[in-house]
Amino acid sequence: MGKVVLGVSVGVAVAACAVAALVVGRRVKSRKKWNRVVGVLKELEESCETTVGRLRQVVDAMAVEMHAGLASEGGSKLKMLLTFVDNLPSGSEKGIFYALDLGGTNFRVLRVELGGQRSDLDPDVEQQPIPEQLMTGRSEDLFDFIASSLYQFVEKANDSVQSPVTKELGFTFSFPVKQTSVSSGVLIKWTKAFAIEDMVGKEVAGALQQALARKGLNMRVAVLVNDTVGTLALGHYHDEDTVAAVIIGTGTNACYWERTDAIIKCQGLLTTSGSMVVNMEWGNFWSSHLPRTAYDIELDAESPNPNDQGFEKMISGMYLGDIVRRVILRMSEESDIFGPVSSRLYMPFALRTPAMAAMHEDDSPELIEVARILKDVLDIPDVPLKVRKLVVKICDVVTCRAARLAAAGIVGILKKIGRDGSGGITGGRSRSDVKMRRTAVAVEGSLYTQYTMFREYLHEALHEILGEDIARHVVINVTEDGSGTGAALLAASHSSSSSGSVDNIQLV
Ligand code: BGC
Repeated sequence: MGKVVLGVSVGVAVAACAVAALVVGRRVKSRKKWNRVVGVLKELEESCETTVGRLRQVVDAMAVEMHAGLASEGGSKLKMLLTFVDNLPSGSEKGIFYALDLGGTNFRVLRVELGGQRSDLDPDVEQQPIPEQLMTGRSEDLFDFIASSLYQFVEKANDSVQSPVTKELGFTFSFPVKQTSVSSGVLIKWTKAFAIEDMVGKEVAGALQQALARKGLNMRVAVLVNDTVGTLALGHYHDEDTVAAVIIGTGTNACYWERTDAIIKCQGLLTTSGSMVVNMEWGNFWSSHLPRTAYDIELDAESPNPNDQGFEKMISGMYLGDIVRRVILRMSEESDIFGPVSSRLYMPFALRTPAMAAMHEDDSPELIEVARILKDVLDIPDVPLKVRKLVVKICDVVTCRAARLAAAGIVGILKKIGRDGSGGITGGRSRSDVKMRRTAVAVEGSLYTQYTMFREYLHEALHEILGEDIARHVVINVTEDGSGTGAALLAASHSSSSSGSVDNIQLV
């Protein structure tokens, strides 16, 4: 009997040990997997690091590249394009003006009534998404679609469409354009999600003008501007200290007010103001100081424009979600903390930046929004809280890098024009010798306006780079619909009835 009891006890003990060993084994295994994932996160954090020292290197590189791009055509990846805008709206403009804003996922038509006194503008705005097939089809189809929308908009506004009086239009076209005048220019290349091959190298305003004629709409493209230039115009209209404008939306770019004698590649450029707005096309900026990860390299290689728009691919709304998707995919492949690898994780752009921002800013204790987006968007259900926290951290790292790099870009411009308190690119004077003037930068784009964490990281970095003493002289103003409204303002100041400055620009 005793033997039997002993035998049973030993058996139970052995079984208990086996179970314990199994549990321990599983724990060890799962800890290993977790450690692997934490390793991936650590690696991401390290390669995205943007210490203030590194940001200052980016600032210097930006200022140097700006010089190079102004010195000679093709002298830098920064195109530093002439805009032929040498005067910004004064506030005395009068009349009804239209604008058409094309460049992101949506396009907008606007109508602005100007009373001649700098006042709050209250434009009528209509926005609609651009059907995806039009972004990659034939240019004529795209322009016909735009012209039809504009036609309907004018009709709705009760402005006679066929009136013999020519209506003036500001056309915001947010892609790199080599301007030949303030109202004409040739598309250099597409960026973001656009790829209409037959349009590259073609006259942009001309294509729209022809579509307007086909539609029978008596309207003249008075100005062809980049969205940054529209934003600068509106920013300056409200705040005369505005010297630069930045867009951080689907794509990213900046323009600023430059002295014509600094535009060396265009010797003998004469303007009445002695200055001109330069469209930097900073999305294409590149420097070895940029903190680049394996995910950026992959994203770039798989994009339709490899080796192009490197800065944009680290900063703008078109790409941030996709960087995060790539990190989650890698983690999911390395361990099963997300369950079996979801096929959605292999789909480029399956995770859009607005969804990523919503996960980042989920402040519910259980991270309910993160769980919902992982399930609904990426088809990853039942993710434990610990893993959801990890996802938030990935979003944070990617967004923090983007916002801080954008801040460095802004300071790069300030440095180029001697408004960063350092005495300009050639330096020489100490910070304390320099009397800082109030300097305003107009900013627009959903990443900045709708993504609080992004905005906060950007401001924090501006203060870190500039130091509090200088930073308090630098104001960031958000403009609303500046890219469009600003174009209408510029159409007004360059309209056929105004004494616009376009005739005063000479290339000798
Ligand atoms: C374009 C710029 C534009 C920016 C913001 C970039 O992809 O190249 O021209 O200003 O997006 O819309």
